Amino acid sequence: MIENQIICDCNDICKSSILAEIFEKKLVTVEQVGKELNAGTGCGGCQVDIQDILNEINN
Ligand code: FES
Repeated sequence: MIENQIICDCNDICKSSILAEIFEKKLVTVEQVGKELNAGTGCGGCQVDIQDILNEINN
């Protein structure tokens, strides 16, 4: 995945924004990312990708 790739099309949120937020606020769930960034709160189709990013960082 490229860093500036859009992950959440509904809310126009790229991977680097999600990564920064996860690091900064030590997020561990898709729900938390949604709360902080709105990513994943539209159609929900990107939630799998958000989970992958969380796994990349937290596992
Ligand atoms: S693409 Fe992220 S909620 Fe629709």
